[in-house]
Amino acid sequence: MSSTLPGVPDVDEDLATSVTERLAAIEERLRESVATSDDMVRWTSRHLMDAGGKRVRPMLVLLSASLGDIDAEGVLDAAVLVELTHLASLYHDDVMDSAATRRGTDSAHALWGNNVAILTGDFLFARASGLSARIGADVVRQHSETFERLCLGQLHETVGPAAGEDPFAHYISVLSDKTASLLALAGSLGASLAGAPESTAGVLGRYGEKVGVAFQLADDVLDLESDAATSGKTPGIDLREGVPTMPTLLVRRRAAEQQDAVSLDIVRRLDGDLSSEKALDEVVSLLRSDPALEETRQLAARTAEEAMDILAELPAGAVRDALMGFTTTLVRRSR
Ligand code: IPE
Ligand code: IPE
Ligand code: MG
Ligand code: MG
Repeated sequence: MSSTLPGVPDVDEDLATSVTERLAAIEERLRESVATSDDMVRWTSRHLMDAGGKRVRPMLVLLSASLGDIDAEGVLDAAVLVELTHLASLYHDDVMDSAATRRGTDSAHALWGNNVAILTGDFLFARASGLSARIGADVVRQHSETFERLCLGQLHETVGPAAGEDPFAHYISVLSDKTASLLALAGSLGASLAGAPESTAGVLGRYGEKVGVAFQLADDVLDLESDAATSGKTPGIDLREGVPTMPTLLVRRRAAEQQDAVSLDIVRRLDGDLSSEKALDEVVSLLRSDPALEETRQLAARTAEEAMDILAELPAGAVRDALMGFTTTLVRRSR
């Protein structure tokens, strides 16, 4: 039977209903989780939450929890926990990336300035910590380890590879820390809180680590390919801020190895002044027709296949099938 599970094709009907109903409950809990008597934070913290988002991390918690008892205590809280943590990181990320739009709306710092955006992110992290403490001490530990990796990933992205470090290996480790760590937490917490065997939680943790890298590589493609109306973000914004992405790393390597005019021209533009719309549009359009984009897409697809190989360790059934479909959705998305 086909499903109504957002974006994921061909999910068993009962499973789709079970997950979809709980996603609706999570929306309510998300709003409750930021309830505050502070008039300003109530407004600023709801801003990006209400703007939408795909909710892929809560979905992964629920799919993983479907391998055990999805109604077990802590499962829905864990889904809220990972989304709150993600949301907080977006407030900070948009400051660091000087991104003016997010989820199809103005980013928080564009509306209220950097300080308010950073402090709202901190407020959300604080609420996430409180929630993790309600679930249990071990979840506090796991969440803090993930939070640390999110910070280190963003930090290592900012400072770049150390002297002599391979830029590709560095980049993949950045993606693992800044993005995959939270998907790994979503998968392993969902399974473990639902009482699934420890080995299952381990598989989902490893799966999250892998699919998270594929997901972020797909994001690199989207940053160039997608228009603002679809992605809700400004195309090429990472280029303007000099944030490395897989396509630009590939072009830089080609320029260094082959010294060809096309690659050298793109690198010169990337290193030049991209503050005008015209300059940014031109380099985005050059990269859109560059083979590095297709190479990145293929790398995302191969990484997603590796994630599916990990899923193959799970018992066959509706949940495993749904997770396979979920994986494909994560790399073939348009927003
Ligand atoms: C955006 O995450 C940041 C990345 C890790 C790529 P999502 O693509 O999950 O963003 P939302 O939650 O749907 O807005
Ligand atoms: C997302 O990173 C932020 C985190 C994972 C903390 P990016 O900067 O690459 O993602 P977008 O494109 O702004 O969503
Ligand atoms: Mg960003
Ligand atoms: Mg960023």
